[in-house]
Amino acid sequence: MSAPIIAFFNNKGGVGKTSLVYHLSWMYADMGLKVLAADLDPQANLTAAFLEEERLEEFWPDGEHDKTVYGSIEPLLRGVGDILERPHAEEIDERIHLLVGDLALSRFEDELSQQWPLCLDKKERAFRVMSAFWRVVMRIVEQKDIDIVLIDLGPNLGAINRAILVAADYLVIPLIPDLFSLQGLKNLGPFIRDLREEWRVRRDRNPAKDLPLPEGRMEPLGYIIMQHAERLGRPVRAYERWAEKIPMVYAEYVLNLETNSNIKTDANQLGLMKHYRSLMPMAQEAHKPIFHLLPADGAIGSHQNAVFEAEDNFEQIALEIARRCGVTIEKDHH
Ligand SMILES: Nc1ncnc2c1ncn2[C@@H]1O[C@H](COP(=O)(O)OP(=O)(O)O)[C@@H](O)[C@H]1O
Ligand SMILES: [Mg+2]
Repeated sequence: MSAPIIAFFNNKGGVGKTSLVYHLSWMYADMGLKVLAADLDPQANLTAAFLEEERLEEFWPDGEHDKTVYGSIEPLLRGVGDILERPHAEEIDERIHLLVGDLALSRFEDELSQQWPLCLDKKERAFRVMSAFWRVVMRIVEQKDIDIVLIDLGPNLGAINRAILVAADYLVIPLIPDLFSLQGLKNLGPFIRDLREEWRVRRDRNPAKDLPLPEGRMEPLGYIIMQHAERLGRPVRAYERWAEKIPMVYAEYVLNLETNSNIKTDANQLGLMKHYRSLMPMAQEAHKPIFHLLPADGAIGSHQNAVFEAEDNFEQIALEIARRCGVTIEKDHH
């Protein structure tokens, strides 16, 4: 089976997407899979999480753009060729490769937006541009023998994200139980459903028989509820009131289905992400996932229990996502 491409998406920022992709990349690597973490958010926070500052400086601001996702598709967008034959993937670990993010990626917004309607006119270049992210990812998957692809993307419904989402086989939606997140879900759901249909119509008009295109499956695997930072400070009822609305809003807007599920039993819930407070900055400082923190990193006393708790938390979520997209994990991975 080809490696599933999973996009972690919410059109609202600050819901913990990047942290989730970072931790799940390490978790799947610990489970024995070869992971491609693709930083397709022009903010490039995932790249900053993986790499030390000295290495980052070699890519930006005017360094090796040819080794970032921007550089991998730049010749195509400048009209002087196609995506790179061998896009760079930074080796983070034996089993983790990073498609390096780039702040310059936002320069493609206009071009991607212009090419989208041209697919309807059967313009080959429009298809090359729209499928560029997917083709870069697929080349790395083949060249590095990748088992699973995790994509981090920015929080908006713009043209860059349309091209990224089209590349995804599956979607995971991290949510915070609050008004903004629920409102966002009501925009996100129909956007995805429309996009799937719009891509299907376009895909049939590809004039270039030798140009492979993504299927545009974008199958929603479910949502993950991220605990509020202030949760303990606020009345628990406010959190619960919003959480209770999630199953219905998700089913109606994302799946176009009705549901009677409640938040405790909802099959669309992939898991609950706990808030790890000071452990998260500690992990960022150490360029490690929380569950790799050692006493020497500062994880002492009650932090040690939280480290084990985090390992369990991320493991459960990783297993659930793997199960839903048909990825096999060896039982004795520890
Ligand atoms: N499970 C968590 N526990 C504690 N802090 C978290 C957790 N997930 C995310 N954060 C923090 O919340 C902030 C937003 O997270 P981030 O992953 O950057 O969100 P997004 O990518 O959706 O904008 C960051 O400061 C991050 O360190
Ligand atoms: Mg982010």
